[in-house]
Amino acid sequence: MQLREAAGPAMVIRREDYTPPPFWIDRIELTFDLDPTKTRVLNKMSLRRNTEVPAQPLRLDGEDLNLARVVLNGGGCSFKMDGEALVLGNLPEGPEPFELEIFTTCSPEKNTQLSGLYLSQGDFFTQCEAEGFRRITYFLDRPDVMASYTVTLRADKDKYPVLLSNGNLVEQGELADNRHFAKWVDPHRKPSYLFALVAGRLISREQRILTRSGKEHLLQVYVRPGDMDKTEHAMNSLIASVVWDEARFGLPLDLERFMIVATSDFNMGAMENKGLNIFNTKYVLANSATATDTDFANIESVVGHEYFHNWTGNRITCRDWFQLSLKEGLTVFRDQEFSMDLCADASARAVKRIEDVRVLRTMQFPEDAGPMAHPVRPDQYVEINNFYTVTVYEKGAEVVRMMQTLVGREGFRQGMDLYFQRHDGQAVTCDDFAQAIADADPDSALARHLPQFKRWYSQSGTPRLQASGRYDAAERRYTLTLSQSCPATPGQSEKQPFVIPVALGLLDAQGQDLALRLQGEAQASGGTRLLVLTQASESFVFEDIDAEPVPSLLRGFSAPVIVDNGLTDDQLLHLLAHDSDAFNRWEAGQQLALRRAVQAVRAEGSVGAAPLDEAFIGAMRAVLCHPTLDAALKELVLTLPAETYIAEQLDVVDPQRIHAVRETMREQLAGALQADWAWAYEQHKDNGAYRPDPVSSGRRALAGMALTMLCIAARDTGDAVWPGKAYQRFKDAGNMTDRFNALSALVVSGQPLARDALARFHAMFQDEALVIDKWFALQAGAPDRGGNVLPAVRQLMTHPDFNLKNPNRARSVIFSFCSANPAGFHRSDAAGYVFWSERVLELDAINPQVAARLARALDRWKKLAEPYRSAAREAIARVAAKSDLSADVREVVTRALA
Ligand code: PHE
Ligand code: ZN
Repeated sequence: MQLREAAGPAMVIRREDYTPPPFWIDRIELTFDLDPTKTRVLNKMSLRRNTEVPAQPLRLDGEDLNLARVVLNGGGCSFKMDGEALVLGNLPEGPEPFELEIFTTCSPEKNTQLSGLYLSQGDFFTQCEAEGFRRITYFLDRPDVMASYTVTLRADKDKYPVLLSNGNLVEQGELADNRHFAKWVDPHRKPSYLFALVAGRLISREQRILTRSGKEHLLQVYVRPGDMDKTEHAMNSLIASVVWDEARFGLPLDLERFMIVATSDFNMGAMENKGLNIFNTKYVLANSATATDTDFANIESVVGHEYFHNWTGNRITCRDWFQLSLKEGLTVFRDQEFSMDLCADASARAVKRIEDVRVLRTMQFPEDAGPMAHPVRPDQYVEINNFYTVTVYEKGAEVVRMMQTLVGREGFRQGMDLYFQRHDGQAVTCDDFAQAIADADPDSALARHLPQFKRWYSQSGTPRLQASGRYDAAERRYTLTLSQSCPATPGQSEKQPFVIPVALGLLDAQGQDLALRLQGEAQASGGTRLLVLTQASESFVFEDIDAEPVPSLLRGFSAPVIVDNGLTDDQLLHLLAHDSDAFNRWEAGQQLALRRAVQAVRAEGSVGAAPLDEAFIGAMRAVLCHPTLDAALKELVLTLPAETYIAEQLDVVDPQRIHAVRETMREQLAGALQADWAWAYEQHKDNGAYRPDPVSSGRRALAGMALTMLCIAARDTGDAVWPGKAYQRFKDAGNMTDRFNALSALVVSGQPLARDALARFHAMFQDEALVIDKWFALQAGAPDRGGNVLPAVRQLMTHPDFNLKNPNRARSVIFSFCSANPAGFHRSDAAGYVFWSERVLELDAINPQVAARLARALDRWKKLAEPYRSAAREAIARVAAKSDLSADVREVVTRALA
């Protein structure tokens, strides 16, 4: 671990300061002698001066490296160190190429940050995005410097039988001393952040496929011996991804060989290294006995995501890290579309959309309203790792989705074609992307409003959309007025209006969509219409309306905004019962629940016993027992808004009260619908042989929810039948989804049988790390009862299976508590915050990236009620007072206190 500077002024990097690189690196030849304690790296580069920018010395990035030797054009040369950078002054003045040879060593076994070259269970892995390559060798470690890579790996034959890097294997053979080598050549130029190597004892599932052009490709999924029985779903997902990108976007696989490798030690989900994707085991390994439906769905979308990066990220990459959403927003959009296109029908597509919007609202909206708020294309950062955020990813994907909405699906495809025609092989900006999509159709609403549309990239904060309708019976006319505003965010006090695509329909009294004719139009058209709001306020007039309609606004969540639709409960109930847009049916139910939650939280005195009224309960019953609605959609509608989402609606947040209200609402739904839950459980519990498709997983989700509700109702009546059934189900379940749902029903409802079930579960799966993660997470995230979770969490940290150095394990205990269990975490005795500050500091010495993510658990402290607010500020200040914090954590706590 290297020593850090004592708290000095943070180095702020600004987007406006971008300048092109002073040198190009055309080729790099790397030779590794892999050894856990001391790995030797020989780096031979061909460079040339970029004569288009003023002459400067060559300043190569480096971090935690031991420098042995530098050779310029075969001879000696002078250099100096500037901090950790290697600076060379006397270099050729013209554009002619020169050769630089740099010999360094590094220590993978000491690398606990998991950035650069590190060890995971004895195998070697690399992680280079965003700035990890400089921890492997000296380089111009920036994405606009693209080089051709040749890589030779040398290592012990027995310990590291598999030697992998990007591209094609061109040579391999034996060496002295029981060592061997492999030489890889990547046919595509790439930025350093896409470099990867893997060495170790691994096995692979292989599949040869033919793509449309008739070319054969080899797909491989590498895992540790023993995990082969968990690779089928990842391979199927990869094949589906290859097929989809070719069909939907005309983008073929451009490599002879495409590899996925799984590691259990990984900071993030997965990484799109060219031809050699490295994945967190969590997003590769699955079989029906160890993985839930959610795991299967996540694997499909992450495998897709990384594969789609091959074009959106790798073939066209980012000019600088401020453009991160160029690849991430676009690729999240692509993986969302991929998952939707694999759905059998519109209902399953809506379910996927609801799940994505739920992530946006519960994670991104709070980020956009807190101290870390930043535009989709940030203007500045201290530590780029802190900007791999839900704003860059999920809001970025919404921005791309709005472009598709504005130009249409066909138009978007043409825009993508133009983007690749113009920029294949380049490092570009978000502006370049938006320009290409707009240029493909100059008549589109996007093209007409492009500069204004791009405010989505530059302005942070979640816009509010206000709608009010007025019906004029005499004129048979309905006027809808839409207004927008956006709250101030750090560094941005004033906002300009956004371009907001508003998809809407008007429902008649029978719940049918009206045909719509806007004033000035000759003919009506049916169903959903797209309005484009560009002003602060605009009115839209619909003609020939016979009676006051109910507006269904923002169908499919056509823009990432907060809507105040001004609808009455009766109108929302009408939408919940009839809207042709499944997303808005769910949304109406959420709004009804949210209103009741907020009202009960705001009310004086203790939380009443029955926050829910008959109308709401009746509507929920109608959904639960609906003859044709899909089980998956029912489960989503019946799930109450998350505590964090309820908190976002309030100016002052008392997490304990929100928790009490939501729990009471849940108990009420459990009790009032008891017979219906029992019916739903019996109807949906058996699904035949396990398949993770949306329909059968929706049935399992509803059965699981019913079981939880029945165990909650049983707790209140003291009845033992349903807990007994849940326990039996837990023991007999034929797959992990049903087993885990049954276990969770017992834990969540606080049934005494939970103890025994948890112990059995651990014994059953003690050798399955990913299942043990679930076991930890379930306990750390359990509903708090009288402050019981924190002591349990402290106890879990002393469990022999706990390991702070493993990010998945640390997240399963610490993050599940601090970031996902508000009532357990926000304690009036401040003990949750003390625990948090201890863990942030402890983790920071091991892995600053993970520590900085944990540090964000208190982002929203300013909204807290007393005594939480003062105690939280004190805890943050305690962390900030530490002199040798990483830049990662320092940036987060400094912004939180600002
Ligand atoms: N680029 C990766 C992705 O989104 C995420 C990642 C970032 C992984 C940084 C590791 C480090 O697919
Ligand atoms: Zn990505």
